Amino acid sequence: MTTLSNRGSEIIRDYLRTYPNINHTALARTICTHHPGLYRNEESVRRMVRKIVKEPEFLNKPEGRTPFNFPEAVTENQASTFFFPKKDNRKILTIADPHLPYYSRPSFELAVDLGLKRGITTILCLGDFFDFPTLSRFLRNPAIGDLPEELEMGKEVWTQIRKIYGDEVEIFWLYGNHDYHFERYLWTDAPRLFGIEDFELRSILDLDDLNIQTIPDKWDIRVTDNLSALHGHQITFGTAINPAYALYRKFKDNAIMGHVHKSSHYSTRTGTGSTISTWTVASLSLLRPEFMPVNEWQNGCMYIETEGEEFQVENFQFIKNKVYHA
Ligand SMILES: [Fe+2]
Ligand SMILES: [Fe+2]
Repeated sequence: MTTLSNRGSEIIRDYLRTYPNINHTALARTICTHHPGLYRNEESVRRMVRKIVKEPEFLNKPEGRTPFNFPEAVTENQASTFFFPKKDNRKILTIADPHLPYYSRPSFELAVDLGLKRGITTILCLGDFFDFPTLSRFLRNPAIGDLPEELEMGKEVWTQIRKIYGDEVEIFWLYGNHDYHFERYLWTDAPRLFGIEDFELRSILDLDDLNIQTIPDKWDIRVTDNLSALHGHQITFGTAINPAYALYRKFKDNAIMGHVHKSSHYSTRTGTGSTISTWTVASLSLLRPEFMPVNEWQNGCMYIETEGEEFQVENFQFIKNKVYHA
């Protein structure tokens, strides 16, 4: 007889075979997303993974064996990859860098409208959903509101997005460097609260109820086997004339990213005939912040269609509240 826990651990064993090189935190997150409702939470899956990989039975199988049996590395401080659940096709609205509370509401609404017109199946937020000015390490104007207000606004925006698109649409939010301010604040100013679920963004914003999957900052996402998505702060460069080229120089594979608040594209062909393309997505933030009122930022969003491993990207810019292909 197959019990639920047997089935649960068999699924974990399958994932360990399929994704032997990703760390246990990433594996647990991937498994929980692919099998909603089967496990209690990510932490319980991570514990099961750690237990399984130490079983003599697992170690003696080819997927668990290492030639010299050294102990396993601690991988909790490593970035990793989140894999979208396999699907034949997706229609993805990609949004980036709204920087709440400083978002451009007209641009945000243009993106939402574009998603509705295209009948999207998926929303991918590429990070910096929040700005978190009150948690920034830089000095900021004290008149800019407070943290509870910002969090309330974020919750309201996500709730509204869920209401507009309905329960069927998948929503993924990859944290950007600004979203990460929240966790970093706990690390430095309230370390005793770190790790308590009620103080995580997921709990504060009710993301479980809203069925929104979050992915840690600095991780990348495998949208299909041929296309990756990043926030972009792991690609360090100054004011690149073409940030998509800078992304190509670092990542060297098909990829999209936000963070630079500007739409751009680069494409090249390798000596063996493969084409590699990279894109950056424009922002949904206000464009003249007082700390940098003159900049090259743009508003826009991206639409991606996938069919198996194939993908098509359309990059958009919003100029004077009109949508243009970037
Ligand atoms: Fe940003
Ligand atoms: Fe960023």
